[in-house]
Amino acid sequence: MWEYSEKVLDHYRNPRNVGKIDDADLIGEAGSLACGDSLKLYIKLDGKVIKDAKFQTFGCGSAVASSSILTEMIIGKTIDEAAKITNKDIADELDGLPQEKMHCSVMGHEALEDAIKKYYGEDVIAMEEGLNPSGEKIICTCFNVTENQIWEAIKVNGLKTVDEVTNYTKAGGACGRCRGVIKDMLETYYKKAEQTAELTPTQKILKISKVIDQQISPQLQKDGGDVELVDVDGNKVKVKLTGMCSGCKNASMTLKNFVETILKDKVDSKLEVEQV
Ligand code: FES
Repeated sequence: MWEYSEKVLDHYRNPRNVGKIDDADLIGEAGSLACGDSLKLYIKLDGKVIKDAKFQTFGCGSAVASSSILTEMIIGKTIDEAAKITNKDIADELDGLPQEKMHCSVMGHEALEDAIKKYYGEDVIAMEEGLNPSGEKIICTCFNVTENQIWEAIKVNGLKTVDEVTNYTKAGGACGRCRGVIKDMLETYYKKAEQTAELTPTQKILKISKVIDQQISPQLQKDGGDVELVDVDGNKVKVKLTGMCSGCKNASMTLKNFVETILKDKVDSKLEVEQV
């Protein structure tokens, strides 16, 4: 049985702002009845300020609680302020949701995002977010979950496993055909995050040394050569070619095309290798 916070139970038992705004300025929609959950968010504006918000949802208690608290969170905010709300903010405001129910907070966020896109026009939002407006690729056809929704859920919530992605977005929770793609997306995301993470000088030296020992040296040794790490000064990696490599007339090419290329790829694209 899932544990719910007092706030979730309160918003489920006494949902705020339930209903429809007949003359709403914006209506955001998320989910679909076919998937078991859906949410319609009605917004009334006063200039750029959200004067009123109401919702209609078909879903579980967490969907009701997420929608209810979302309306409270956005009333009084400007559209720009509301646009900064993430699904994590919604869950945090409820003092947390069970992992398996996080997709309810995602649905609230998607309805809000849908309404805001309509305010600004889809293309503007897409450009601001660096998205291709026509690139709404569906990854999970069972639940109509797009690639961008999965990237967003991974990024905002620090999701690490396919099951976590399913809990937050539902993707992968039915036929399972999309689970392989989601796994690849997680690997790509964390590989990129690791590559772009700023290393401390010590971490950088250790990583360079490891790559040389495990990936560069064994290749050079096959031809009777080798390379030693001498020093790392900022992005300058000072090495010494040894064995057959030391007298090789192609030494500078080996350094640039082989040693430097691998270090750039595996450690940091700013690295430059020089022989000492
Ligand atoms: S395609 Fe994602 S669960 Fe079926």
